[in-house]
Amino acid sequence: MMNLILICLLCGLYGVLAKDKDQKGKYSVPILDVKTRQLVLDTNQTLLLGCRGRWELAWAFPSGLVRDQVQVEEFRCGRTSKHYCSRVTVSSTQAQHTGLFRCRYRRLTRKQTSVYVYVTDSQQPFVEHPGMSPDVLYMKEKQPLLIPCRVTHPNITTTLVKYPNHSLSPDQRIIIWNSKQGFTIRTPAFYYIGLFYCQTITDGVAHKSRIYFVHRPVSNIMEVYLNSSGPVEALKGERLVLNCTATGELNTRVNITWDYPGKINNTGSMSKRLLKHRTHMLFYNILTIPKLQRSDRGLYTCRVTSGEKTKQQKITVTVFDRPFIRLKPRHGSVMEVPAGQKSYRISPKLRAFPVPEVFWLKDGMVAAEQCSRYHMNGTSLVIRDVAEEDAGKYTVLVRIQEHGLYQNLTLTLVVNVSPQIGEKAVSLQDPGSVPRGIRRALHCTSHAVPPPHIQWLWHPCPSKGLPAAPRA
Ligand SMILES: *[C@@H]1O[C@H](CO)[C@@H](O)[C@H](O)[C@H]1NC(C)=O
Ligand SMILES: *[C@@H]1O[C@H](CO)[C@@H](O)[C@H](O)[C@H]1NC(C)=O
Ligand SMILES: *[C@@H]1O[C@H](CO)[C@@H](O)[C@H](O)[C@H]1NC(C)=O
Ligand SMILES: *[C@@H]1O[C@H](CO)[C@@H](O)[C@H](O)[C@H]1NC(C)=O
Ligand SMILES: *[C@@H]1O[C@H](CO)[C@@H](O)[C@H](O)[C@H]1NC(C)=O
Ligand SMILES: *[C@@H]1O[C@H](CO)[C@@H](O)[C@H](O)[C@H]1NC(C)=O
Ligand SMILES: *[C@@H]1O[C@H](CO)[C@@H](O)[C@H](O)[C@H]1NC(C)=O
Ligand SMILES: *[C@@H]1O[C@H](CO)[C@@H](O)[C@H](O)[C@H]1NC(C)=O
Ligand SMILES: *[C@@H]1O[C@H](CO)[C@@H](O)[C@H](O)[C@H]1NC(C)=O
Repeated sequence: MMNLILICLLCGLYGVLAKDKDQKGKYSVPILDVKTRQLVLDTNQTLLLGCRGRWELAWAFPSGLVRDQVQVEEFRCGRTSKHYCSRVTVSSTQAQHTGLFRCRYRRLTRKQTSVYVYVTDSQQPFVEHPGMSPDVLYMKEKQPLLIPCRVTHPNITTTLVKYPNHSLSPDQRIIIWNSKQGFTIRTPAFYYIGLFYCQTITDGVAHKSRIYFVHRPVSNIMEVYLNSSGPVEALKGERLVLNCTATGELNTRVNITWDYPGKINNTGSMSKRLLKHRTHMLFYNILTIPKLQRSDRGLYTCRVTSGEKTKQQKITVTVFDRPFIRLKPRHGSVMEVPAGQKSYRISPKLRAFPVPEVFWLKDGMVAAEQCSRYHMNGTSLVIRDVAEEDAGKYTVLVRIQEHGLYQNLTLTLVVNVSPQIGEKAVSLQDPGSVPRGIRRALHCTSHAVPPPHIQWLWHPCPSKGLPAAPRA
C-alpha cells in the first residue's frame, strides 16, 4: 500500500471568507475554500470544494469526471448575500477523476482558481486506464512532446517504455517527469516515433499505462522540379506535356496543383502518381494540354503544398502559330578582322522554331572540311588564329526539313593585313654610292590588305664636313 495522506478537509466552509471586507481588487478572481494547490484523496472518498466570487461562477472538471458524478449547488452568500457561492460534491471519487478542478467567472473565463486533485488507487496508478484504446500523439518539429500518462498519486515514480521493452528514466533535463502531466520530451528525435507506454512498480507489481502511439505527420517537401529547365516553345495544335516532380520525406503527403492560362477553360488534364522510395517519396503531377492554342501562352506554375509549406516552380510556354526561320546579319554583311586575331566568331541573328539544322559553307564548300581552324559553336562559325586566306564568302544554311523551310545568308569576311616591306624582310641593303648622273632604280615591294599606299621619302645624307644643303 502506498502511504496516502489526506489533505482535503473541508473547513467550516465559508466562515473565513464571510468575514472578509470587500476590499478593492478582492475577488477579482474567484476564491476556493482549499488553500493548498493540490489534494490527495483515496478512492471512494467524498470530494467537497467550495468557491466564492463577485459574479456568477462556473466550473471546469477533469475530463475523466462525468457530469452526473458531480453535484453542483449554487447560492448567494456573504453578509448581504451580494456574493456568489458554488459547492461541488463528488461523493465517490475514482482514480480517473484525478485532475484539475477550476472555478471561474462565467463571463470572465480567464479569471480562475484551481486545485489539482489526486484520487489514489493502488490498483490504478495511471489516470488513463491500460484498457483504453491507444492514444495517438502528434510529434511536431521543434516542439516538446508530451506523453500524458498522469498518475493518481504525486509520489509515484514511473519509467517511459518504448515498445516492446526499451525503458527510459526521467532525467529532468531531456525527459521530464511531472505527475500532473506525464513525460515531456524536450526536443523529440525520430527515436520517439512509435509505440510507448509508462510503467510503475507498486508493491512489486508492474502497472502499465494506456498505450500512446507517437506519430510524426511530416510535411517536408524537399524539392520540386519541372522536366524542362528553360522556357518551353511549341507549335499551335501540338500537345504540351509538363511533368512536375516533388520529392518529400517518407510519410509526407502533398498536394500538387497547376496554375496556367487555360485553367479557367479547363484545357489541361492532370494525372498523378506517387512512388515510395527507400529514403524518400516521389510525387508526380503531369499536365497535358492536348491541342495548344495561342491563348495557352504564358506562365505555368506547379505548386506543391504540404501542410503549411509550399514550394513552386514556374516555366514560360510560348506558342508559335507556324514554324519559322528568321535569319539576318548581326552588323551588316561585310565583316573585317585583322589577321592574327586569336579567334573570330561569325554569328548572324537567328531565330527559328522548331530547332533548325545549321550548316556553314565557305566560298560554296563545307567550311569545316576546308580548314581545321573552322568549327561550329552553337549556330555560329568560329575561326581560330585568323589568317589572310580566311577572307571570303561565308554562307550559313538554315533548314527545318520536316516543314520544308530553308534560308541562307552570305556574309563577306575581309581579313586586314598590315603592310610589310619585302626588302626590309630580306636584309637592310645599303644601295651604296652611285656616281652622279647615273640613273639608278630603287625597289620597294610591299603587301597589305587593303592594298597599301606607297610613299617615298627622301632624307639627305649628312654632309662630309660641309653643312648640308638641300638639293633638287
Ligand atoms: C469503493 O467502493 C466500491 C463499492 O462501494 C467497492 O467495491 C470498492 O472496493 C471500493 N474501493 C476501495 C479502494 O475501497
Ligand atoms: C511524497 O514523498 C515525500 C518524500 O519522499 C513526502 O515528504 C511526502 O509526504 C509524500 N507525499 C505524499 C502525498 O505522500
Ligand atoms: C526485449 O525484447 C526482446 C525481444 O522481444 C528480447 O530479445 C530482449 O531480451 C528483451 N529485453 C529486455 C531487457 O527485456
Ligand atoms: C515524368 O513522369 C514520369 C511518371 O509518369 C516519371 O517516371 C518520369 O521520371 C518523369 N520525368 C521527369 C523528367 O521528371
Ligand atoms: C516532360 O515529361 C513528359 C512525360 O514524362 C514528356 O512527355 C514531355 O515531353 C516532357 N516535356 C518536356 C518539355 O521535356
Ligand atoms: C477560354 O475560352 C474562350 C472561349 O472558348 C476563349 O475565348 C478564351 O481565349 C479562352 N481562354 C483561355 C485562357 O484559354
Ligand atoms: C490537399 O488538399 C486537400 C483539399 O484541398 C486538403 O484537404 C488536404 O489536407 C491537402 N493535403 C495536404 C497534404 O496538404
Ligand atoms: C562555345 O562558345 C562558348 C562561348 O564563347 C564557350 O564557352 C564554349 O566553350 C564554346 N564551345 C565549344 C564546344 O567550343
Ligand atoms: C540561298 O537562297 C536563295 C534564295 O533565297 C537560293 O536561290 C540559293 O540557291 C540559296 N543558296 C544555297 C547555297 O542554298
